[in-house]
Amino acid sequence: MPTRGIQAIRGMNDILPDQIYLWEFFEQVVRDWMAAYGYRNIRMPIVEQTDLFVRSIGAVTDIVEKEMYTFLDHLNGDSLTLRPEGTASCVRAALEHNLLYAGPQRLYYSGPMFRHERPQKGRYRQFHQVGAEALGYTGPDIDAELIVMCAELWKRLGISGVRLEIGTLGNTESRAVHRARLIQYLERHLGDLDEDASRRLHSNPLRILDSKNAAMKEIIDGAPRLLDDLDEDSLAHFERLQQILRIQGMNFEINPRLVRGLDYYNRTVFEWTTDKLGAQGTVCAGGRYDGLVEQIGGKAAPACGFALGVERVLALMVENASEIPCPVPDAYVIHQGEAAHDLAWKMARQLRDEGLKAVLHCGEGSFKAQMRKADASGARFAIIIGDDEAQAGEISIKPLREAAEQVRAGLMEAADLLKKNLRELEPENS
Ligand code: HAM
Repeated sequence: MPTRGIQAIRGMNDILPDQIYLWEFFEQVVRDWMAAYGYRNIRMPIVEQTDLFVRSIGAVTDIVEKEMYTFLDHLNGDSLTLRPEGTASCVRAALEHNLLYAGPQRLYYSGPMFRHERPQKGRYRQFHQVGAEALGYTGPDIDAELIVMCAELWKRLGISGVRLEIGTLGNTESRAVHRARLIQYLERHLGDLDEDASRRLHSNPLRILDSKNAAMKEIIDGAPRLLDDLDEDSLAHFERLQQILRIQGMNFEINPRLVRGLDYYNRTVFEWTTDKLGAQGTVCAGGRYDGLVEQIGGKAAPACGFALGVERVLALMVENASEIPCPVPDAYVIHQGEAAHDLAWKMARQLRDEGLKAVLHCGEGSFKAQMRKADASGARFAIIIGDDEAQAGEISIKPLREAAEQVRAGLMEAADLLKKNLRELEPENS
């Protein structure tokens, strides 16, 4: 009986060499962009104690209730979870290593996150985030900085058409007042609530406002607005944030119903969305979480951050046809015969020593077959070494991407000649 090949787990994707240059380009832009704003990289483990996420994200959120990859470590009985997001781990790490003793911290991380959601375009079970967390800052200037930074990233990546929505959740007390008013209102419409909403009425009524059920639209539209219950300090914070954003030339919409799927937020929340990716249009989201540091066991410290979905941002780059340089070898070295073989190795090493990317043909193959390989590799030039060249201690350079003559050169001058030709091929010189 033939055995079925083992396949990757549903919703968890391989990233293949043909896609990797896009990822690496993105990662390089992200490193430069974070450094430009003074954010330092931090790397946390992928697995944490389950309790960290239950306490921070919230026990009655979708993530904790049904999306976490939680398992028992059979060796010691611990309940562990594959991280569904990075904020909780980042704060845990900052506290564990006393980073905040040295003052406020601007940190960023990137890597895979895991949520057991129904996979579809733009929604995966293993996906990647780049997240920034500013710990120890009261804002609203840092809130604005984090938002403006995102706009700068879209520019650097050549992405357009991402809309910014901002909102505020107020402080704990104002949210409690609002929650009570909301429950009272929804109780008056009990008969019209769907199953999900009825279940959430007392555990997480704010999430009901996020429902996509068209039948509940009227009830949701008529519900009390959090903005009307806000405390004065939160209102002032929100006003100042808007003022800075306007001065910085940012376009944004205020969304009084912006509810996030994680419980740790207070005051500022924001989302960047696009229409270009279908149903999974949120490319980046974040906000303020002033209570989380204390909740995880540290001395109270304010904080704000965001995370972007890498797969979604990359899809937008493709959608926007952003110009991404695709790395190709500078030269593909083809050879035939024993003497040519040794010379080819020498040539390839010399090109690499000069900082060029050289692929040396390995294995058998006629000149014609090797030329086909050279062409398929995307190399700009083929370096050809046959008996003739080997005897003369020379090589032939054949341009593969332009109609130009093949030239002969000595081994020592080959790298210089190639570099000169490559410079001439650069777009700005064409
Ligand atoms: P989040 O809204 O859960 O926030 O996720 C942030 C982003 O991750 C989303 O906007 C989306 O682009 C991407 N994302 C989430 N789930 C998936 C999925 N299943 N497949 C593909 N992409 C996905 C957080 O995670 C917070 N930790 C953000 C934050 C940082 N708040 C403060 N600091």
